[in-house]
Amino acid sequence: MAEATKHATLTVNGTSYDLPVMSPSAGPDVIDIRKLYAQAQMFTYDPGFTSTASCDSHITFIDGDKGELQHRGYPIDQLAGKSHFLEVCYLLLYGELPGATALEEFETIVTRHTMIHEQMMYFFRGFRRDAHPMAVMTGVVGAMSAFYHDSTDITDEHQREVASFRLIAKMPTIAAMAYKFTVGQPFVYPRNDLDYASNFLRMCFAVPAEDYVVNPILSRAMDRIFTLHADHEQNASTSTVRLASSSGANPFACIAAGIACLWGPAHGGANQACLEMLREIGSVDRIPEFIARAKDKNDPFRLMGFGHRVYKNTDPRATVLKQSADEVLELLGVEDNPLLQIAKELERVALSDPYFIEKKLFPNVDFYSGIILEAMGFPTSMFTPIFAVSRTVGWISQWKEMITDPQMKIGRPRQLYLGETARDYVDIENR
Ligand code: SDX
Repeated sequence: MAEATKHATLTVNGTSYDLPVMSPSAGPDVIDIRKLYAQAQMFTYDPGFTSTASCDSHITFIDGDKGELQHRGYPIDQLAGKSHFLEVCYLLLYGELPGATALEEFETIVTRHTMIHEQMMYFFRGFRRDAHPMAVMTGVVGAMSAFYHDSTDITDEHQREVASFRLIAKMPTIAAMAYKFTVGQPFVYPRNDLDYASNFLRMCFAVPAEDYVVNPILSRAMDRIFTLHADHEQNASTSTVRLASSSGANPFACIAAGIACLWGPAHGGANQACLEMLREIGSVDRIPEFIARAKDKNDPFRLMGFGHRVYKNTDPRATVLKQSADEVLELLGVEDNPLLQIAKELERVALSDPYFIEKKLFPNVDFYSGIILEAMGFPTSMFTPIFAVSRTVGWISQWKEMITDPQMKIGRPRQLYLGETARDYVDIENR
């Protein structure tokens, strides 16, 4: 826990309160208000937590003004260019880049946990074929707590480790099965001779009648998408996992809560919403109409894939993904993809429009990930499940950090109450 390095004074109604100020290794100082209510019988007020640090963490740092993202101090562009997803998983989980032996052992354990309990297949049969894959994943991941009892005791370090491996290893299998179920094709088992990204692509696109030969450029792009979505400090779904975990709920239930939160179009659902928006725009000449709608305060329409709570300069992940998009579309011979043309023109127009410049709105990670995934043959309904596969390691890393924090206590925010004050019950004959 950081120590107070300075002090802030809050003066209310003539009374002054001394509040410790803690300095981070990077980012803004924080005012410690933990004792404010006991001292001043006052709450702070911050809906959406725009100015609130909910915890301390050593995992991921974002500098929104500079457009920087670091995992355990390593810049995301270096990890995306030089590392690969399972090595980034190790880094997020354990804090350091692994040596060759440690990496091989880690990858072997993950590879050997990719199958799910055979009886879990029956959960999928209970869904309608047109169920959204995120609904299926939320249900099946939550149901893992009904199968893997031997890794639900969060006080047992070994069980925490086993649950972590099971979740990271089985998420691609569950996501691929959710996809296969919705398209009416048989499930494809994972294979131990394939790397994580290649295994996922094959489980999604292989059929009994014809195997799927993984194109190394596509599996590299898939791995890069996994790497770029792995963790992002205290975003909405990670905060959901932390809050659910603070009650002592088992890891599978907590990750299912994270999946549910990620599904929202303001969060991980934005990649699907972005492609649907591009389809709705339909042609480059309709872009001004949609830009006008995005600027119209009376119109709830927002440009999906634009803007970010923290990044006020650029989303470094979008910068990397933009390069991958060009690579993948060129490989697939679809660089003149009409949706990509609309996306590129929309980006150009939006970035030159005073409204977007003033409000610091620019393409975020979801803007380009959707275009790549569309080009790779995924339906838009699979975009957020792919985000969930990647973010599972971030949720798990943050969960482990919180569970092992001696300061950990149940999260229980207070409120600014504006409702009716105490009044007596009125019998129905007098109403
Ligand atoms: C992710 O938190 C994370 O780290 C998330 C994430 C991760 O890795 O976990 O990075 C993943 O969720 C990326 C964001 C994906 N969402 C979208 O692309 C949906 C579209 N974006 C917006 O909904 C919005 O930008 C948010 C939700 C991303 C951020 O919203 P904020 O920070 O709450 O900003 P805001 O809503 O207060 O907007 C500030 C102003 C508003 O105008 P005013 O009220 O000041 O006049 O900007 C406007 C908004 O109307 N605005 C937009 C806009 N986003 C914000 N106007 C048009 N189009 C947009 N996309």
